[in-house]
Amino acid sequence: MTSDVQSIPSAQRFPAEQRHADDIAALRAWDRHPCPAGWQLSPRAVRSFILGSDGEALGGRVIERKIFGNDVLVERSIVTLAGQRGLLLAGEPGTAKSLLSELLAAAISGRSTLTVQGSAGTVEEGIRYSWNYALLLRDGPTPAALVAGPLHQAMEQGALMRFEEITRCPVEIQDLLIPVLSDRVLHVPELKGEGSLVLSRPGFNIIATANLKDRGVNEMSSALKRRLNFETMQPLTDPRLEGELVSREVQRLLTAEGIGASVAPELTGLLVTLFQELRQAQALGVALEPMSNVLSTAEAINVLHSALADCWYLGDGSAGPAQLLRHLGGTLIKGEEDDRRRLRDYLRLVRGHRADEPAWRALLEGEVWL
Ligand SMILES: Nc1ncnc2c1ncn2[C@@H]1O[C@H](COP(=O)(O)OP(=O)(O)OP(=O)(O)O)[C@@H](O)[C@H]1O
Ligand SMILES: [Mg+2]
Repeated sequence: MTSDVQSIPSAQRFPAEQRHADDIAALRAWDRHPCPAGWQLSPRAVRSFILGSDGEALGGRVIERKIFGNDVLVERSIVTLAGQRGLLLAGEPGTAKSLLSELLAAAISGRSTLTVQGSAGTVEEGIRYSWNYALLLRDGPTPAALVAGPLHQAMEQGALMRFEEITRCPVEIQDLLIPVLSDRVLHVPELKGEGSLVLSRPGFNIIATANLKDRGVNEMSSALKRRLNFETMQPLTDPRLEGELVSREVQRLLTAEGIGASVAPELTGLLVTLFQELRQAQALGVALEPMSNVLSTAEAINVLHSALADCWYLGDGSAGPAQLLRHLGGTLIKGEEDDRRRLRDYLRLVRGHRADEPAWRALLEGEVWL
């Protein structure tokens, strides 16, 4: 179990264009389809990059599906980005809004890191540009003293800019995007002549994300709304797809961390059933009181990953169903005592109907940890 120094990666997580560099190279080699100006891949190749190639080898490589269960939304998003309107991906937490925006930017521009993280403290300088104050004091406002922010860089390079959690920013900060999306120019009034007007190169556009649990998109100005196409990401409802995604992501995380445990399909099956039933607030034909915390696929991935890591580091290496409940509390309850009661009510219902199924019986043994 000692880790091999050679195999320690140099970063915890690489940007999508690096994680999937082989897919992008294969698609570039294969791609002969019409391509909007400034895009490194055609819309058809971008779709294959995100939704996979269905087992077909493209450019000598089968492309793995990266986003599950929102295919039409993905296609519409690609088409939006080729036009003159920006894209806003809205949805519940953990529905892969950020992941999709990262993948789109990686596939279309080859760069997913021109990103603004929206918060109450996001300031204009962090989006447009700021100044190197030493140079500013010495020479005044010159192009050399200008420090281009993500928006300035994206416009100049003809790339996509990502604006994460845009609705967490004050409305006046969000509205900076209105002139940029309409006129496609950025003014730098401090500079005279060259550099005072940044015209966006072909390929530039904006992908924003907004969490429906946070301050809502209803606070966004209608002027900005009109310049964005809205797409709402839905949680996965198909247990088979959710199970496939959870297994694959957990296995990927474990391998990256050098954990030798593997994901047993029955464990994923149990977890996905539990998540789907709690999410729909319905099990065995009985209506349940809905949990107040979100039960996203991302949370299911966390629970299974933690259960397996726990057994690998602290146990005998193999996780059983009971371990799932040991890690469910931190994800689903988050200090809300009402949610603890709701989860117990669900387990009581399950105990009444599934106690003779060995996997469920084993799962219920973990209730002591809740
Ligand atoms: N439909 C899906 N397809 C692929 N991955 C998904 C899907 N739903 C959830 N995931 C998983 O969830 C993880 C987290 O997603 P992500 O952070 O992009 O969600 P988000 O919608 O931006 O959440 P938040 O609102 O909390 O920012 C992804 O990395 C992926 O592993
Ligand atoms: Mg996000």
